Amino acid sequence: MDPRHIDGDLETILLTEEEIQGRLAEMAAEISRDYEGKDLLLLGVLKGAVMVMADLSRHLPRHAEQDWMAISSYGSGTRSSGVVRIVKDLDTDILDRHVLVVEDIIDTGLTLSWLVSNLRSRGPASVEICTLLRKPEAEKTPVDVNYVGFDIPNAFVVGYGLDFNEKYRNLRVVGTLAPHVYT
Ligand code: XMP
Ligand code: MG
Repeated sequence: MDPRHIDGDLETILLTEEEIQGRLAEMAAEISRDYEGKDLLLLGVLKGAVMVMADLSRHLPRHAEQDWMAISSYGSGTRSSGVVRIVKDLDTDILDRHVLVVEDIIDTGLTLSWLVSNLRSRGPASVEICTLLRKPEAEKTPVDVNYVGFDIPNAFVVGYGLDFNEKYRNLRVVGTLAPHVYT
């Protein structure tokens, strides 16, 4: 969906379709250099990472398997607590595999740090992280993020997989919501 179809719902457009696709192409080139000669399993985190997975994987000039996990994080209100439940587990045994976690956004990083230790306990050859967006809070968590698309300000964003009440995921851009939408 193009932003003109939700005229007025966005306060600002943070990233255009061209900016997102351009950056994903650069990240894919970097990833393919780093994983040269290795197998690669892309692990997408549902549902937010669907668009990143689709476009990043198609920018890759090489084979890469895909698998998915759905996790839900218990938290009060909009803050995640780091207490996580697996809603859908991987179909793949990741023992001795090179796993690249594909994320839409890292905020506090609590969800991701739980996920990474869960994955490490399964004996993979490596676990690295790739995210399209990163918020400033993420600095406080000890998780190393190898590939970051964009560092963005601490605002609630929607689009390109990210939702507000399950809406706006199919927006081609990333933007901040206008207050009238959520108040
Ligand atoms: P933590 O704090 O554990 O949480 O890194 C990451 C998850 O929180 C959600 N999240 C957002 N979702 N717009 C969204 O639509 C946002 O601005 C936003 N910030 C965090 C998201 O589910 C992410 O995986
Ligand atoms: Mg998510």
